[in-house]
Amino acid sequence: MNQDELKALVGQAALQYVVPGQIVGVGTGSTVNKFIDALATVKDQIKGAVSSSEASTARLKALGIPVFDSNEVAELSVYIDGADEINAQGHMVKGGGAALTREKIVAAQSKMFVCIADESKLVDVLGAFPLPVEVIPMSSTRIMAQFEALGGDAQVRMKDGKALVTDNGQHIIDVKGLKITDPVAFEAQVSQWPGVVTVGVFAYQKAQVCLLGTAEGVKTLTF
Ligand code: 5RP
Repeated sequence: MNQDELKALVGQAALQYVVPGQIVGVGTGSTVNKFIDALATVKDQIKGAVSSSEASTARLKALGIPVFDSNEVAELSVYIDGADEINAQGHMVKGGGAALTREKIVAAQSKMFVCIADESKLVDVLGAFPLPVEVIPMSSTRIMAQFEALGGDAQVRMKDGKALVTDNGQHIIDVKGLKITDPVAFEAQVSQWPGVVTVGVFAYQKAQVCLLGTAEGVKTLTF
């Protein structure tokens, strides 16, 4: 199976965590797009979704799934999202699709985070994938210098020759060369830096379950 087929496999498998009659938290990315397509086949059995990006909102609405504002929903039973990396504790690096802030918000209002990923995302130590950090634009030079001091190589993410602007009107810094051996401490530390909106380490909002697409089928990891 190729990577696209593995993503479709876990997107379909995630339906088992969707609670009939409820609102489901929906992440962002190519794996989640497969989940959204699968969700559309059972849309009459759910109330709707809370979405983590404009892109996912557009896809959900195009498929006839009602989208609720996160402020309208006190708690979600489940949040389903992909990851750029996940370790054996369920800690993740996320934000490759620049949606990390809203992803962390929807994850925080959900009782359970189900990560859907192909097996290439499972790592021993987080950091091989460049770490996305959403920042207030006026703070980016100072924050990049702080990452350089930690041994990282930080760059502002570009799109069409300009700094990419997130759904929240902010910029993304991508940091290469980090080895994040203590994700909880790292997330707590970087979250304190003035100008950081969200760091793409999800240790406090870690996954409880990962549906991993492998050549042998879907493996369920629990943390
Ligand atoms: C978007 C994310 C995605 O979950 C992550 O980038 C994985 O995406 P994909 O499923 O396309 O590999 O964090 O901000």
